[in-house]
Amino acid sequence: MEAQRESWGSKTGFILAAAGSAIGLGNIWKFPYIAGENGGASFVIVYLICIAVIGFPVLIAEILIGRSTQRNPVGAFFKLSGSKFWAGVGGMGIVGGFLILSFYAIIAGWSIGYIVEAIDGNFFNFVEETASAQHFLNLVGNVYWILGYFIFFMMLTTVIVFAGVKKGIERGSKIMMPILFFLLIILMIRGITLNGAEKGLEFLWNPDWSKINANTILIALGHAFFTLSLGMGAMLTYGSYMSKKDNIISSAFQIVFLDTIIALIAGIAIFTAVFATGLNPQAGPGLIFHTLPSVFIKMPGGYFFSILFFILLTLAALTSSISLLEVVVSYFVDERKWKRHHAAIVLAFFITLLGVPSALSYNVLSDFTIAGKNFFDLVDFIASNILLPLGGLLISVFVAWKWGFKKVLPNLREGAENLFEKYPWVISFWKIFLKYFSPILIFLVFLNSIGILDKIIELFF
Ligand code: PFF
Repeated sequence: MEAQRESWGSKTGFILAAAGSAIGLGNIWKFPYIAGENGGASFVIVYLICIAVIGFPVLIAEILIGRSTQRNPVGAFFKLSGSKFWAGVGGMGIVGGFLILSFYAIIAGWSIGYIVEAIDGNFFNFVEETASAQHFLNLVGNVYWILGYFIFFMMLTTVIVFAGVKKGIERGSKIMMPILFFLLIILMIRGITLNGAEKGLEFLWNPDWSKINANTILIALGHAFFTLSLGMGAMLTYGSYMSKKDNIISSAFQIVFLDTIIALIAGIAIFTAVFATGLNPQAGPGLIFHTLPSVFIKMPGGYFFSILFFILLTLAALTSSISLLEVVVSYFVDERKWKRHHAAIVLAFFITLLGVPSALSYNVLSDFTIAGKNFFDLVDFIASNILLPLGGLLISVFVAWKWGFKKVLPNLREGAENLFEKYPWVISFWKIFLKYFSPILIFLVFLNSIGILDKIIELFF
């Protein structure tokens, strides 16, 4: 007889864990800087549309596959299709989790390192932004610094996944998520009460439509995927621990809502502060690690707020990294019959090993490139630009075309009977978006990611 599969203790537990997976470095580190680079408000609007018409429908689809099968991504696709091809799509998700965690944990490690920098008051030694950028380069250039915090972060992730779905992931999310909301609200209030904060708000609210082009739309859509943890079976895996009594549609809505609101609040907290201190909103990936330290030293209470900020960033990363590890662990537990404890430790070890060359890309291996990319960028590119969009595309195609709505809808209905009766149009929209919109749009993102969309456009126009 099969051992009893693990499950969430409650619907709230599931929502907090899934929102924890969604809310991460993507919201607090990446969203503000890509919004900054791509025109602020106009980008935000495009992003919101992408979340609503693609992110939300695909999220429902992923959770549904997981809940209907109560399996990891490989087992889930195989159970529903009986085909090795589709099981391979699940397998892509496992590989994706492996790859993403190997570099995600490195950036999360920087965040822990920055908590220590903040506590030491080190930011106050760098008045100019260029000096603080140089300090960042010195830190990541130090092999011991970068590896030490990376390994430490991987250990934190492992401990939580080791403890199990209910006792580890759910309990951890229930503690960390409220702290995260609280810290972010404090930081937002600090931001908007600074002198000159209005300019930051204007930047986020006044759209400049000249900044929107095909590329911005595709960046927004790609980010919608990353931020909702879609395309690699993380939400599928979390959905597999969900009860059939719970409403998938309303849960997905709450997850999307929380993820979006947190990204917006992070944007407000960061841009009000950046503008109020007269710094550049277009600093790119360095926005948080170069620009913010100079912002903190110029604001009243900056010492205290800088510590809070990096604690917030670390917690957000941790509730996401556990979902990445869980995808990989669930496969080995379900399909290979490994014990959870063993799986968590062994797999985390191999993920850490894979992360080492990425960490070294910032120092000893900085000259080593493959296809013009260093190891870190290469792994990031393969996972974020190829595996995630391809996974999202195949998930939409699978649910809408292969599994088929005839079989899908009775499953989706479980726990959502009320919604099916009162708002049948929600279901109709979902079907149309999943069947046509998402496959086509995701396909375009995919072509863009691998750099061939431009050539195709040139060919035709
Ligand atoms: N959604 C996370 C973020 O925004 O930081 C990143 C992520 C987590 C992507 C889990 C994919 C995933 F499976």
